[in-house]
Amino acid sequence: MQVIHYKKELQNVLFSKENKNHTIGFVPTMGALHKGHLSLVKRAVNDNDLTIVSIFINPTQFDNKEDLEKYPTDLEKDIALLKKVSSKIIIFAPSATEMYDGNITSKEFDFNGLEKVMEGEFRPGHFNGVATIVELLLLAVKPTKAYFGEKDFQQLQIIKKLVELKKLPFQIIACPIERESNGLAKSSRNQRLSKSTREKGGFIFETLKTAKSKFGTENANSITEWVAEKFAANEVFELEYFQIADTETLTPILKKQKNIKYRAFIAAYADGIRLIDNIAL
Ligand code: PAF
Repeated sequence: MQVIHYKKELQNVLFSKENKNHTIGFVPTMGALHKGHLSLVKRAVNDNDLTIVSIFINPTQFDNKEDLEKYPTDLEKDIALLKKVSSKIIIFAPSATEMYDGNITSKEFDFNGLEKVMEGEFRPGHFNGVATIVELLLLAVKPTKAYFGEKDFQQLQIIKKLVELKKLPFQIIACPIERESNGLAKSSRNQRLSKSTREKGGFIFETLKTAKSKFGTENANSITEWVAEKFAANEVFELEYFQIADTETLTPILKKQKNIKYRAFIAAYADGIRLIDNIAL
């Protein structure tokens, strides 16, 4: 298993004579890998000659210092999990200084409003940090295809926009959400939940599924009110936002229109941990 810590070294391997015509699949992660990440990695391994998995907790995308400090990390465990998928995977685990060439700050981006709603509203600066690091990683790896999970759906749309705006010749592949058996969306943060909260975690997805069934007959306002009431009556999960939005522009909508695809989004807290999920309507 090759673990590389420096961009130059990574590029020497990726762009060597031997790997010259190889397709490269890339899965960027912040480590603490779970089945959701591994499903992206398996897809990358299946689709490409070479697979790179980056493990880098990106400081510039955390709007909350405590969240950054408590973000789970276990490189040895991550390496062991990836080895089970394929021992040919190359792990790229740079330091922040290496990744940012010593200047650990975000660039400012304008994604045509995609960055202003939902996560953008509640986590100021988050998407500037995400876009900054994803651009740096994509330019370091130069993948044929890069894989992102739909759990972070807003992030996915922003990365597609980033690639379009910067004219980066890399294909962005969206992968479905992996869930625990009760429906809780897989996330590295789940391991910080208490056992009992984690067992009750299906509540978020159940609420999304009912919202979906209501979307045929009720308008977005009435569904939003219903979701707020459900959360108010729940002792474990605290709602931050529920939003029905146009899948492409992420603008909030009131009434369903023909030929437009919609998605419902939730952010909630449990045990002080922030969880997000979404569903196609
Ligand atoms: O989704 C994540 O884990 C992170 O936001 C990413 C894409 C690896 C950038 O740090």
